[in-house]
Amino acid sequence: MMGSGKSSIGRRVAKRLRRRHVDLDSFIERASGKKIAELFASEGEALFRDREHDALREVLADQEPLVVSTGGGSVLRDDNRAAMRAAGTVVWLRASPQSLLARVGDGSGRPLLAGDPLGNLTRIATEREGVYAAAAHEIIDVDRLSSDAVSDRVARLVGRPVPSAIAAATPYVVEVALGRRSYTVLVGAGVRHELAALIPRDARRAAIVTQAGIPYAVDPGISSQVFTIGDGEPAKSLVTIESLCRGFAQWGLTRADCVVAVGGGVVTDVAGFAAASYHRGVQLVSVPTTLLGMIDAAVGGKTGVNLPEGKNLVGAFWQPSGVLCDTETLATLSPREYRCGLGEMAKYHFLTGDDLGALDLDARIARCVAIKAEVVASDEREGGRRAILNYGHTLAHAIEIAGSYELRHGEAVAIGLVYAAEVAYRLGRIDAARVGEHRAVLGAYDLATTLPTALDGDELIALFARDKKAIDGVTFVLDGPKGVEVVTGVAPEILREAMEAIR
Ligand code: GLY
Repeated sequence: MMGSGKSSIGRRVAKRLRRRHVDLDSFIERASGKKIAELFASEGEALFRDREHDALREVLADQEPLVVSTGGGSVLRDDNRAAMRAAGTVVWLRASPQSLLARVGDGSGRPLLAGDPLGNLTRIATEREGVYAAAAHEIIDVDRLSSDAVSDRVARLVGRPVPSAIAAATPYVVEVALGRRSYTVLVGAGVRHELAALIPRDARRAAIVTQAGIPYAVDPGISSQVFTIGDGEPAKSLVTIESLCRGFAQWGLTRADCVVAVGGGVVTDVAGFAAASYHRGVQLVSVPTTLLGMIDAAVGGKTGVNLPEGKNLVGAFWQPSGVLCDTETLATLSPREYRCGLGEMAKYHFLTGDDLGALDLDARIARCVAIKAEVVASDEREGGRRAILNYGHTLAHAIEIAGSYELRHGEAVAIGLVYAAEVAYRLGRIDAARVGEHRAVLGAYDLATTLPTALDGDELIALFARDKKAIDGVTFVLDGPKGVEVVTGVAPEILREAMEAIR
């Protein structure tokens, strides 16, 4: 609304974010050589709105990140609202008519207010309430806040885009398109050295969460402290979250600061959940150092820890503000750790028609990230389609629990993929040749696909129902004529027969 402070707040936010500021009304005045009031008087509101629409399109077409203070009326048109929301983060600075009036004074130069400024402001504010709410990603009530406090809040809502020079020099750049929670994943040798460029601008401290033995010291370019967590699945616990958050508090980490996760899936899951919870959420940058972390855990915003009752039962969706997949770090993985990543990579061979086998490693990692990014962008909170990323995971989770995590996640997924293929085959969803393809991909990755003899099939099947994705009894993600999809209500006999096929 006029008088909400959008132009001066926009200027301040732009300064803070070191972006160019565009005030839409001033832009129109400059382009037309006339004052808004004159344009309104000479051409009427409808023509002015067309002019405003064209101006908005021109401004939003700019490739450079901007801060735009829009004219209060530009939000009225559906197409303008859609264009704004698609282009960035839309913030509504909401103020009471009284405080709007305090800023616009007697309303002179404001054609819409003529005659009765307070009455007109109140009427316009009420009329526009619905569309403003529909346009806004975020609402800030500004009546009781100083301009500094408002600018601060706006600036914090906006992530940090990767500088174009860095993006241009990086072999693979994948965007995870989630509106205002969008972020970039850089893939390539040495990209961890770009960390400072991804740290949120307002952060003064970075809590680096890692594990002993991860040989990568990263430089966030601001004051930092390292917090080391334990190894393996047992470290994915609420106890670890408590100790991390207490460590953050003792160090004085604030909501404006950030967490940097440096490590494999356990680190990114735990650091991510700590970041999601501490001060109700601080920004997170992930530097996955394992293959599994790069192609799965660090991308997509799933964070969490295990309970004795099951894996990943407590967590949050918390998207990072950037991910650096430095493929140089893969050279130090043990053969077993590397193979675990291949188990997860194998899954992607069946999610699209891509011939992943034809790509070199960096390109293949980037392609897996891109497949995941596309799925996550279509269903961020796993209302449906995202579940295909759990292909092979129903049995894998059960194996991990029943076997007390002796088999690692990727190893268990390898068995789970072949099991899922055997189930799909028994349901007539795929033919024997497709089952053979599953075995061949896993064989090429040197992964075992038979169930460890110590594990009891019925016990594993009993554990399926406890999988947190169970909707309707046992839910499976299965291949089929339409590709990989969620299938509910698979009969116990089929589950048992397929279990025998992987003995
Ligand atoms: N790891 C599966 C997912 O991120 O949805």
